[in-house]
Amino acid sequence: MADFLSTYSIQSWLESCPQGHLENTEYGHAHDEKEPELVLENEVLREETIKATVQLVVGERCALSASSGLVNAAPDEASKRFLATQTLDEARHVEVSTHRLYDLGVRKNDLEKTIKHYANPNLVKFAEVLLEKVDKKDFVAGVVGQNIVLEGMVFSVFEMMYAMNEPINAKFAHTLSGTIADERRHVGFGENRIGSLIQSNRGKKSEIERMQKEMSYWMLATFADAFRGNRTIEELDKLGVERAHSSYHGADLGVMRPAEMEHVLADTVLAEFKTRLGRIGIGYQTPAMPG
Ligand SMILES: [Fe+2]
Ligand SMILES: [Fe+2]
Repeated sequence: MADFLSTYSIQSWLESCPQGHLENTEYGHAHDEKEPELVLENEVLREETIKATVQLVVGERCALSASSGLVNAAPDEASKRFLATQTLDEARHVEVSTHRLYDLGVRKNDLEKTIKHYANPNLVKFAEVLLEKVDKKDFVAGVVGQNIVLEGMVFSVFEMMYAMNEPINAKFAHTLSGTIADERRHVGFGENRIGSLIQSNRGKKSEIERMQKEMSYWMLATFADAFRGNRTIEELDKLGVERAHSSYHGADLGVMRPAEMEHVLADTVLAEFKTRLGRIGIGYQTPAMPG
């Protein structure tokens, strides 16, 4: 318990976040980092970037609701304190993504309208499954849904986005690397805290397995929508978009078709779920494939 207490303490959060990777940043990036001119000037690209950023706001708002709701559902003081730090992390992630929308030209008065317009309905469903458990103050299901499923997904999505953006958009890549560092801590808490609780709540296992299956289904549907809308390599070339030949799980993202990217990402996330759930004694359930 001593290790758990120090790893997930407010003290260690202070050292790794405000005094660590957030030092000398504003809204998660360096003061002089800006969105690339091409994105700001090309209407098609700007709209696509806004649309993608809206999904980040939706996901982070869900994490904010879930982590704050779980503070009062937590059975022990150390978990409450960790979740309080996570609540501030998630609020910060919401702020960083929201600020990116402003940088991309969304007017403050149009923020909610823009989010409503572009939010992927399947991602909204994904969030609802989790927030229903949190509303019932179901701590074990809530932590598995948030710190294993939601954050396992976010972690892999952000890693892929980072690989794509690192050579072409330093500002966005910087905010992503900071968020990835936070997510690593959040996912670690889920695994470390929940294993023993699952052992003493064996009756809850099948309900949690159903939740994972349902959330995974909505996640795959979200990926399908997101990549279906993506431009092909030929279209990107026509728009003059620079493509980064970054490697992601051994594949070159610069030459991959959107459908291939979707499959690599889905396979990566589902394999992660299987490993992480296995570590806490939950059986991974294969989701239905969205049509
Ligand atoms: Fe987050
Ligand atoms: Fe998180």
